[in-house]
Amino acid sequence: ETAFSHKDLLSIHDLTQDEVYQILSLGLKLKAQSKAGIPHPLLKGKTLGMIFQKSSTRTRVSFEVGIYQLGGYGLFLSSNDLQLGRGETIADTARVLSRYLDGIMIRTFKQKDVEDLAHYSSIPVINGLTDLLHPCQVLSDLLTVYEKKQRFSGLKLAFIGDGNNMAHSLMFGCAKVDMDIALACPEGYMPDDDIVKAAKTDAQLSGSHITITTDPAEAIEGADVVYTDVWASMGQEAETQERKKAMQNYQVNESLWQLAKPDAIFMHCLPAHRGEEVTDAIIDGPMSAIFDEAENRLHAQKAIMALLMA
Ligand code: CP
Ligand code: NVA
Repeated sequence: ETAFSHKDLLSIHDLTQDEVYQILSLGLKLKAQSKAGIPHPLLKGKTLGMIFQKSSTRTRVSFEVGIYQLGGYGLFLSSNDLQLGRGETIADTARVLSRYLDGIMIRTFKQKDVEDLAHYSSIPVINGLTDLLHPCQVLSDLLTVYEKKQRFSGLKLAFIGDGNNMAHSLMFGCAKVDMDIALACPEGYMPDDDIVKAAKTDAQLSGSHITITTDPAEAIEGADVVYTDVWASMGQEAETQERKKAMQNYQVNESLWQLAKPDAIFMHCLPAHRGEEVTDAIIDGPMSAIFDEAENRLHAQKAIMALLMA
């Protein structure tokens, strides 16, 4: 194995294609070892602090279980209880935590806060979701796509709905592995221009294509993977009603599904708002990969921790 050249995982954009593949192949190996009951204490005695400024089911549990399975120990750090919540600076928090821990995972609002934490920490920092990006989710999702389809090149992923953190990281992820991605978002809810520009640069390198439209039918046409996410993300609760109105024609339902490839799979990072961005018939249908997707958070993130913290 070649050395991982990064201290942190802040965005998939920062990784090389080879580093993405390293994460995926180690993730698959650790998954197989887990299933076979073969111990893999790659981070024996190491500690991971997990800072949460937003809610979480999957991220918290998969990181905490993951570090334990690697022989280490995870500490759940709610920002309500940390002095961070009372105004201690990110820089001081970073320098103090670096004296105790071997790694930090943080879920917060601003991407800049994660970057600052990484800058002032001497230990690896892992982005566990910001308003801008959700890299661990998408690296896990790539693992799931690979398991289901055994390739990336030649595949098309359609993302339908809000041009949010998931849309951004999916663009970066697809661009790295040469998967085409088509996004359909309503006017006013398009992905961030700078992210699109950066992802298009990555796509040019790998040979993949990024298409952005307002038309869900156009995006889903011939798709191998259909992805959606909530219409109002954490922190946007006050906009729930206007977002529902803006995105009502962006529901992944049986009629839209007809346009995808016959063997297409459905993906959603979860939690889902059933009856809004997706209907029960799709999310509970035979095409749905959502629970494999959730499980793979554990395996992919164990690989990420092992590569960054070993
Ligand atoms: N998909 C995901 O990150 O889920 P949680 O918000 O439950 O962590
Ligand atoms: N876009 C969602 C993803 C949750 C995992 C949010 O940020 O709330």
